Amino acid sequence: MAETKKLMRALAGQVQDVPPVWMMRQAGRYLPEYRATRAQAGDFLSLCYNPDLAAEVTLQPIRRYGFDAAILFADILLVPQALGADLWFVTGEGPRLSTITTPDDFKALRPVEDIHETLAPVYETLRILTRALPRETALIGFAGAPWTVATYMIAGRGTPDQRPAHALMAADPATFDALIARITAATIEYLCAQIEAGAEVVKLFDSWAGSLKGDAFDRYALDPARQIIAAIKARHPGVPVIAFPREAGGRYIGFARATGADCVALDNSVSADWAAQHVQPDGCVQGNLAPHHMVTGGQALVDETRRIVDAFSGGPHIFNLGHGITPDADPDNVQRMIDAIRG
Ligand code: CP3
Repeated sequence: MAETKKLMRALAGQVQDVPPVWMMRQAGRYLPEYRATRAQAGDFLSLCYNPDLAAEVTLQPIRRYGFDAAILFADILLVPQALGADLWFVTGEGPRLSTITTPDDFKALRPVEDIHETLAPVYETLRILTRALPRETALIGFAGAPWTVATYMIAGRGTPDQRPAHALMAADPATFDALIARITAATIEYLCAQIEAGAEVVKLFDSWAGSLKGDAFDRYALDPARQIIAAIKARHPGVPVIAFPREAGGRYIGFARATGADCVALDNSVSADWAAQHVQPDGCVQGNLAPHHMVTGGQALVDETRRIVDAFSGGPHIFNLGHGITPDADPDNVQRMIDAIRG
């Protein structure tokens, strides 16, 4: 049967006149219906662990805009929580976790096979979505990449330069490597369970890959992605994987070939023309409109959207932002972007 989903066609390498489009954080605070459902759930984590409401917020941007893909509503920090870390969110500030800085902290973590106990509601959200989504909409599952997840587990919060994680890597490489290995193994089990529950594509978010340089990039961004993708492909051969080594710069070149990813997602610090020349020859790329256009709008939004579509028109492309849409975005600007792509 011919593939009806535009996103799946792009991931299979097809070049399309109109690229598929979705947005990172498309279910989020810029939407009034999201804020209402989150209030109904009580708080962000309760929303993540409530399958009916998490499915509802996943569907909201699909109903409003008809995106070509829905991304599971959850968070990358549910994996540390499933491994036994304490996790909470401070309003207006972001996540907080219990920290891993000593061998004993690491030893107190739960084994990989225990994660499903905590994560079962996420799989239920996916099962609901497989029944509720329009037939042309692809369903994306995701996880954080080991380095990015480790930066939060080590520091206990988001850090501008990931210094605590770099410090542990230098001071106690054995504990650091054991943590990366534990997260890698958990991520494989988590993503395979998401696929078994209905995810058709999975995406690996390495938001802080840009702070890894040289050999450290190979060891902690590239190699874990390669291991995770190989394990997924062994168990679920047909399921495409999108890798997002954010701010990898020159290291975007060859990343798909080295890891086996079907698509590399690009942040907006690289130009579309550069990426079309150096990254897209290896396969599908996703990106890379700067999120601030969703706030500022106007003709610049339309011009920049068309410029990106044109730049990537010679190969397989999924239109997206270069990072998540921000809470101050104007929902009308999202429609303007979609019209500029499909118009
Ligand atoms: O893209 C999607 O819409 C799917 C759901 C999703 C969320 N977070 C929901 C969320 C996904 C894929 C993520 C990924 C995520 N979470 C990343 C990697 C991508 C990136 O943004 O770099 C990271 C680093 C996190 C950790 C995290 N979660 C932080 C640092 C924060 C606080 C910052 C913020 O934006 O508020 C969150 C909270 C979070 N995750 C929200 C949403 C919709 C906002 C929570 C709220 O409703 O108050």
